[in-house]
Amino acid sequence: MKLDRPARRATLVVHVAAAAGWLGLTLGLLALAVAAITTDSAATTEAAVRSMKIFTDWLVLPLAFLTLLSGLVLSLGTHWGLARHRWVYVKFWLTLATTIASVFALRPGVSDAVDTVASGASLVDPTDLIAGPIVSLSAYLFMMVISVLKPWGLTKRGRKQRESARGRRSVSGKAVDSEGARQPA
Ligand code: HEM
Repeated sequence: MKLDRPARRATLVVHVAAAAGWLGLTLGLLALAVAAITTDSAATTEAAVRSMKIFTDWLVLPLAFLTLLSGLVLSLGTHWGLARHRWVYVKFWLTLATTIASVFALRPGVSDAVDTVASGASLVDPTDLIAGPIVSLSAYLFMMVISVLKPWGLTKRGRKQRESARGRRSVSGKAVDSEGARQPA
């Protein structure tokens, strides 16, 4: 089912707001991780990792799912398709991978760090704390860039679909342009 213009615009606003929120949140996590690692004050380290836990417990997953869901609606409800254009397909898999990594690596890592500092010990391997935000921030920036530039053209599946649409249309006597849109014969 294709989205009509108002529905597509509304979903795009939700999608960009969720994706930008997710990116900004990750930047905040990175700042807190740097503060936790570089300070000499145990109180600052504890405050920083506790703040990270609030972010990861309350915000990361809702924003990840909202980005993924709105992205799926936009893909399936518009001419972009999910597996038709490479930039969309790459974003889909990368978002899925970073969402899974947030559930199974980022959140447990931050919880462990809170338990460690709350027990009075210092962080065993502080790089663990900073690795997640660095990797996810790089991934979201990359996805932001490919969303705006929309590089790489059609996937193999997208090319096949375009060829078969062309075939069908030339049988019915209509010519199509390179995007598959109908042209006057
Ligand atoms: C962190 C992850 C993501 C970021 C940062 C992101 C960012 C963006 C941005 C900035 C746009 C607007 C581009 C423009 O209008 O020029 C956009 C559009 C779009 N995104 Fe995403 N996105 C993400 C995830 C996803 C996912 C997972 C999917 C698919 C499952 C997806 C599918 C789409 C589609 C199809 C559009 C075009 C919508 C249209 O023009 O109607 N995105 N995205």
